[in-house]
Amino acid sequence: MNATISKPQRGRGVIARYRDFLPINDKTPNISLAEGDTPLIYCPQLSERVGRNCDVFVKNEGVNPTCSFKDRGMAVAVSKAVERGACTLICASTGNTSASAAAYAARAGISCVVILPSGKIASGKLLQAFAYGANIVAINGNFDDALQIVRELGERGGFSIVNSINPDRIAGQKTAAFEIVDEIGDAPDFHLLPVGNAGNIAAYWAGYREYQARQKSTKIPAMIGFQAASAAPIFYNRVIEKPETVASAIRIGNPASWKQASAAIAESHGTIDIVSDEQILAAQTWLARHEGIFVEPASAAGIAGLLKWRDSNEAYSFKKFPEKSRIVCTVTGHGLKDPDVIMQRVREVKPVPATVKDVQRAIGL
Ligand code: F0G
Repeated sequence: MNATISKPQRGRGVIARYRDFLPINDKTPNISLAEGDTPLIYCPQLSERVGRNCDVFVKNEGVNPTCSFKDRGMAVAVSKAVERGACTLICASTGNTSASAAAYAARAGISCVVILPSGKIASGKLLQAFAYGANIVAINGNFDDALQIVRELGERGGFSIVNSINPDRIAGQKTAAFEIVDEIGDAPDFHLLPVGNAGNIAAYWAGYREYQARQKSTKIPAMIGFQAASAAPIFYNRVIEKPETVASAIRIGNPASWKQASAAIAESHGTIDIVSDEQILAAQTWLARHEGIFVEPASAAGIAGLLKWRDSNEAYSFKKFPEKSRIVCTVTGHGLKDPDVIMQRVREVKPVPATVKDVQRAIGL
């Protein structure tokens, strides 16, 4: 018998699965934590709210190894950095990039420096960076200041930058678009996602375009990005000096991939819109309670946008969505990373005596 046993491509990360679409050669190691292959979850309640026989899916990137979408790009960026002989990674971050960089550096056996805006990193993410052993520097400044420092240190040499200004990051992140097409058989009609430094929207766009060029799909979705209302440089078309939002992951005033994001939006006939902090938190709660998907606040921005448009008369009102549209919303990070807002509610739970009677009363029976 001449049976060849083919190695399973799933569960070995984005490099193994999408090697032919990535800047990988025989000398590139596969530094992987089995990232990617995340669930594309059909959401009946969201679909119902949109109406018009549309199907809404959530691409849940919160179930990646460090619980955010960054792991896809980090696998490729760190593998390429190691191929080039890097010993130390460096990144600026609002939290998730630093958690991911720290994990992949640990996996590769190299060191990692993360520059963070002091006091503005969600507790779960900071905890991750510590756990994976990163060298953590907090600055009295915001993400944009941190990225500027990283760029300058990168130019001086000795560090390998793993922010999304590194094209290997974008290459890895585009695999999320491939997975969506592979799963539903074609590209969706609309793709909604939060926008911060704007790397992810650029990455999805690159992925969809590449798959169409290779005849793996027949169309490209309208790319629709959402920024937090007080951290919305692309929407307002100007740098925001002091961005503010409860969604700390997207608290960014001068996105590095601004140009690429604008091109993605324009060429796909998509748009960029804003959502308020209240809308973001309401969408986070709604998604957890109606679809069972718990995401961090920034991740809920796309869902907040979808809910905001429900009754609007704007160009992207559902009233104008074609019947039977397929809509994908990427949720970018897990809810447990950023527990601080919900923790206030948790503290309101007061213990009662350990009797059936007291428990019944506490339930309201
Ligand atoms: N959602 C989450 C949970 C994020 O952490 C980020 C970015 C975004 C959305 C926006 O993605 O920057 O590609 O437009 N976080 C970066 C970080 C900036 O440092 O972790 P983007």
